[in-house]
Amino acid sequence: MNFDLKTMDLRAAAAEKCDQLVVLVGQDFVAGTDPLSALIGEAIKHKDFDPKPGKLLSFYQSVGIAARRVLFAGIGLGDARGVRQALAGAAAAFRSPGTKRVAICFAAEANAAAVSAAVQGAAHVSYVYTLTKPKGEASSLSRVVVGVGEPTAVAQAFASSVAVALGVELAREWGNRPANHATPRMLADAAKALAKQPGIACKVMGPAEVSRLKMGAFLAVARGSEEPLRFIELRYTGAARSQAPVVLVGKGITFDTGGISIKPAPEMDEMKFDMCGAASVLGVFRALAQLQPAINVVGLIPACENMPDGRSVKPGDVVTSMSGQTIEVLNTDAEGRLVLCDALCYGMRHKPAAIVDIATLTGACVIALGGVRSGLFASDDALAQAMLAAGEGAGDLAWRLPLDDEYAEGLKSSFADLANVAGRPAGSITAAKFLQSFVGEVPWAHLDIAGTAWKNGAAKGATGRPVGLLVNWLLARAQPEAASAENVPRGRAKKAPRPARTAKISGT
Ligand code: BES
Ligand code: MN
Ligand code: ZN
Repeated sequence: MNFDLKTMDLRAAAAEKCDQLVVLVGQDFVAGTDPLSALIGEAIKHKDFDPKPGKLLSFYQSVGIAARRVLFAGIGLGDARGVRQALAGAAAAFRSPGTKRVAICFAAEANAAAVSAAVQGAAHVSYVYTLTKPKGEASSLSRVVVGVGEPTAVAQAFASSVAVALGVELAREWGNRPANHATPRMLADAAKALAKQPGIACKVMGPAEVSRLKMGAFLAVARGSEEPLRFIELRYTGAARSQAPVVLVGKGITFDTGGISIKPAPEMDEMKFDMCGAASVLGVFRALAQLQPAINVVGLIPACENMPDGRSVKPGDVVTSMSGQTIEVLNTDAEGRLVLCDALCYGMRHKPAAIVDIATLTGACVIALGGVRSGLFASDDALAQAMLAAGEGAGDLAWRLPLDDEYAEGLKSSFADLANVAGRPAGSITAAKFLQSFVGEVPWAHLDIAGTAWKNGAAKGATGRPVGLLVNWLLARAQPEAASAENVPRGRAKKAPRPARTAKISGT
């Protein structure tokens, strides 16, 4: 789908040729002299329309309005949240079969955050999963025009939110695909396809290379499956090669049965989403390709299935990770940390400026934070603050959890350097402590997205989180003025900064 930004007041909006015009109306709306704003004024006066978020008024083929259908949508105070709520409520207007072109305009001046929210909201409601349900309500939408009074003021925010929308869509699509349509090999092909874009390269390793690298923990998880593992390495080069990269590591368990410590049957289908960390890394690279920011990023995806089999790793088995540390696998369902620890160890070879892993890691995180905020763990306060702020700006929230060394007590083992589980208390934190043993002193963050990566129930599906948080964070790092103690540029950008970089999108 194409997004365009255009100068548009309400007079121009009335003349805009499209199938659906969505007018976002804030509660401080003052009617002008043009017919469309007079209509809004009338509707409010007669209490047929209320500019509160979620309130709508729709009508058809109205005299003096070029659009076939018109929808007034309340946005309350006009902040990002109000705009997001308004577009979520207007979903049906975007998805109806006869809708090819939609114009969204603001009845009053919109700030960068509101414009970003409009792009994200429109992209969100217009995505429809069709791979294995082709006769579903496939959207015919091909173009969304966002109309504002002053495009130059919001152009950067618009460009970055369009890029985030592309990344979120890719992450949702791969997250949603059933495990037999999203195998490690298929994920690797998706990464290779991204490498056709400028600035992106991709390398894929199979079992032989991974054995040679001595990734004993990753190999132990993969050995119960007929599907061969893949280790995917993406690289985006936007700055001088001498500049230390940010390394992103995404958990890519394409299906998690639990292995020999098998999971109960109810809702096990949702474990196809156990590669949403990997999908978010693909999504970030899609956005980087679009925006070409002056930063270097490496994306690592250890991808495999976790299956029970005669060859599976067994509870009590001790494996040797790439770092040399031995691990007693007390529970084969705690497999995420096993694949991640080897990927993190490999990531350290890149001498990263920061390393971040993204994983649907623990059910305990779903209990702690639900679907509202992702769990954030960070060894570095500046890194934690930057990530929390990036999440606020993107409407993709996180909450920091602690990493006191006392939490690692339970990971002690009589038979190995580490056990892979530490009992039920503070399960998300002990998982994070396990990962921390593999990153040394490098600034490291871990996002536990078990609660936020997908929704269950009637609206079951991947959310594309935390692509927004990550892209916002990377863009802030790419801006020289955003340099901080944990973000000292080690070299100068080889090329002049390219134009499409974002303005920092402020929070709600
Ligand atoms: N992929 C799961 C975590 C998960 C569970 C995410 C439910 C979302 C919903 C992970 O591999 C897992 O099974 N974790 C175990 C760890 C336990 C054995 C220490 C869990 O959380 O139960
Ligand atoms: Mn598991
Ligand atoms: Zn898992």
